[in-house]
Amino acid sequence: MSLNIDWENLGFSYIKTDYRYISKWKDGQWDNGELVKDNNLTISEASTALHYGQQCFEGLKAYRTKDGSIQLFRPDENAKRINRSARRVLMPDVPEEKFIDACKQVVKANEHFVPPYGSGATLYLRPFLIGVGDNIGVKPAPEFLFCVFCLPVGPYFKGGLTPVNFIISEYDRAAPYGTGEAKVGGNYAASLYPHELAVKQGFADCIYLDPATHTKIEEVGAANFFGITKDNKFITPQSPSILPSITKYSLMHIASEYLGMEVEERDVLVDHLDEFAEAGACGTAAVITPIGGIHHKGKLHVFHSETEVGPVTKKLYDTLYGIQFGDVKGPEGWIVKVK
Ligand code: PLP
Ligand code: COI
Repeated sequence: MSLNIDWENLGFSYIKTDYRYISKWKDGQWDNGELVKDNNLTISEASTALHYGQQCFEGLKAYRTKDGSIQLFRPDENAKRINRSARRVLMPDVPEEKFIDACKQVVKANEHFVPPYGSGATLYLRPFLIGVGDNIGVKPAPEFLFCVFCLPVGPYFKGGLTPVNFIISEYDRAAPYGTGEAKVGGNYAASLYPHELAVKQGFADCIYLDPATHTKIEEVGAANFFGITKDNKFITPQSPSILPSITKYSLMHIASEYLGMEVEERDVLVDHLDEFAEAGACGTAAVITPIGGIHHKGKLHVFHSETEVGPVTKKLYDTLYGIQFGDVKGPEGWIVKVK
């Protein structure tokens, strides 16, 4: 089947694909799950996901390689993280094999939506787990749904490897001992207003500081932060209230094992940004987005350049991209073939 999709110019917008996976948890167990065509869910008006935010989600991608095969990048890490998120909001685990099998089924059933090799586009998978069923007290739902849908996507931040500017937010997205480490919808609800303020001021998004002292960089609304110091170290914030990004941990490995760099997870002080020669945002959707500058207290701190990607960021990007699309050999276990 041929689709009328301009693969090279895709952004990050919803496109309805043909099939999605749905599985129900009831009376302590998951059913076998199935692929369905309908992209609407019918759930109780009293579902905990709707009222008390009892839900979590994931994001991962399928990549078309040069030889036409299709592969996933570290889906086991997404499976582990959805279960850490689920436990934080009292939802049942999705067994790792079930998670990966559901992702593979959805990719295979929507194979013609997997963008061609060389277009730069990918098939984004969105697994999610929600509390459903009749309930009104603030307590866990009686039933849960685990679903996976997919859509072809291009860059999350316009321009891909073109630098973007961010602004430091006065708001917090998560609290110490809160749910920042979990990929739950409430964190994203908290980020909508600060994001809109940032965009209205001409920035791609905002960067959050640590909620306790507002002195340390935490992360972007949908990606982690990293900086390259002037003496070539890969630095990324360590905090219990940011999402442990699978891309970030992959880049730490690439920086040390492929590029021979020193790597540190530690505090990044917003008043010491001049320690960095380059900076970037990283995540599944964002891939690596170079940060041109960060606006704080009335001033724009520019890193490498507002228009061009820095040399180390480019090397990190090329290696990650190469592994994901099958052109560079990845570490053992990072690539899972779908077909
Ligand atoms: N931080 C936030 C808040 C995110 O939503 C994401 C996206 O998943 C990331 C970081 C990056 O995480 P990952 O690299 O696992 O996609
Ligand atoms: C991802 O990178 O997968 C994300 O979840 C970011 C986002 C679009 C919320």
